[in-house]
Amino acid sequence: MTGEKQNKDNGVAGLNPAKSPFNALASAYDAWFEEKGKLTFAIELEALQEVVPLLPKPWLEVGVGSGRFAQALGIEFGVDPSSKLLDIAKTRGINVVLGRGEDAPFDSNFFGAIFIITVLCFADFPVRLLREAHRMLGEGGKIVIGEVLLESPWGQYYQAKRKSGHPFYHRDFYSYTEITGFLKQAGFSVEKVSSTLFQEPCEVKCMEYPRAGISPDAGFTVIIAGKSLHSSKGSGVI
Ligand SMILES: C[S@@+](CC[C@H](N)C(=O)[O-])C[C@H]1O[C@@H](n2cnc3c(N)ncnc32)[C@H](O)[C@@H]1O
Repeated sequence: MTGEKQNKDNGVAGLNPAKSPFNALASAYDAWFEEKGKLTFAIELEALQEVVPLLPKPWLEVGVGSGRFAQALGIEFGVDPSSKLLDIAKTRGINVVLGRGEDAPFDSNFFGAIFIITVLCFADFPVRLLREAHRMLGEGGKIVIGEVLLESPWGQYYQAKRKSGHPFYHRDFYSYTEITGFLKQAGFSVEKVSSTLFQEPCEVKCMEYPRAGISPDAGFTVIIAGKSLHSSKGSGVI
């Protein structure tokens, strides 16, 4: 039992990255960062920029999307199941590979840091995705998760969209307890947490700066985790 909310594929075989729901909406998704989401992006980016100076290179973003965060943070590599989003990420200079985080085509022990920014709530198997990240990280490597927590006002807002059939949000969002549970199962220990985006959904009017620690009122939470000292990549059950 992994604790993952699995879809009916129940495994890696048979999954088709070309069927990504993001393909049809790739341009609209990317445009959001310069229009409605401009300030939200700036606030989230600020929280991520706070942690990056300490991270060893090279860097990978799992679920790189159109490469907005990757470009702004200096992440060199990206993997994503949406070919249309990757086409845009390529124009931003990111080295991209079509695929899923659950079976990422990169060598073991290669990366110094792996970013996973609002992806866990879209992935088919979040624990498997985190175990792959564990495999690809070298000694002393860190994982950086940026996520909208289920218990936050933003999580509730997106969860309501999911329930009304929005094409992006076809999986449940996760609580802080669930995400830290996934990390533990994948062999990570949480080292640092910060919170930002305390303005209400659709009411973002001013710049914000991250606060240390976890807060259920924050719309965006950054979790840094390292490989647990005595981990052996979980139980081996994937
Ligand atoms: C909300 S977008 C976030 C994109 C980017 N990280 C950002 O913050 O702009 C979610 C992304 O997760 C990707 N995704 C969905 N399932 C995935 C999986 N199993 N492995 C890796 N990426 C996945 C989607 O294709 C999409 O690009």
